[in-house]
Amino acid sequence: MLLSDKMWKLLNEQVKWELESAYMYLGMAAYLNDKALPGFAFWMQKQAAEEVEHAMKIYNFIEERGNRVELLPIAAPAKEWANVHEIFEKSFEHEQFVTGLINNLVDAAAEEKDHASSVFLQWFVTEQVEEEDTFRGVLDKLSFLKPDSPGMLILDKEMATRTDD
Ligand SMILES: [Fe+2]
Ligand SMILES: [Fe+2]
Repeated sequence: MLLSDKMWKLLNEQVKWELESAYMYLGMAAYLNDKALPGFAFWMQKQAAEEVEHAMKIYNFIEERGNRVELLPIAAPAKEWANVHEIFEKSFEHEQFVTGLINNLVDAAAEEKDHASSVFLQWFVTEQVEEEDTFRGVLDKLSFLKPDSPGMLILDKEMATRTDD
């Protein structure tokens, strides 16, 4: 069954938000690599790839419903941050913002009595809990370390071990 206009608009916008997240994390990866933190940069590249996967899940769902995806403009990401600590604070805030978007989508699906979208979106509800936990975990580790301290190099090595999850 085709999506309602409201559900189509929100899901279509979510494709953009996921791709915009990928763009933001990729920009952070470029910055981190430039700041001699290749492990953090690698971690952020993996995160960007995950966001592209999220976008494609929604993209494919829209098509499966018989609707057409309309790609929206993506904003250019920030280029400069104070340090890696600020990057993870901003990222954590961003993930909380995305959780809000997903919650709005879940509410809309319920209002529209769109059960297929409700079931589809449950995956994203769970995923956002994981996303927030992932970023909170890195922030917790960073809270023990000053920027430019030797401990950062050890954490950078650990960040390089991120696998596809
Ligand atoms: Fe995402
Ligand atoms: Fe995310």
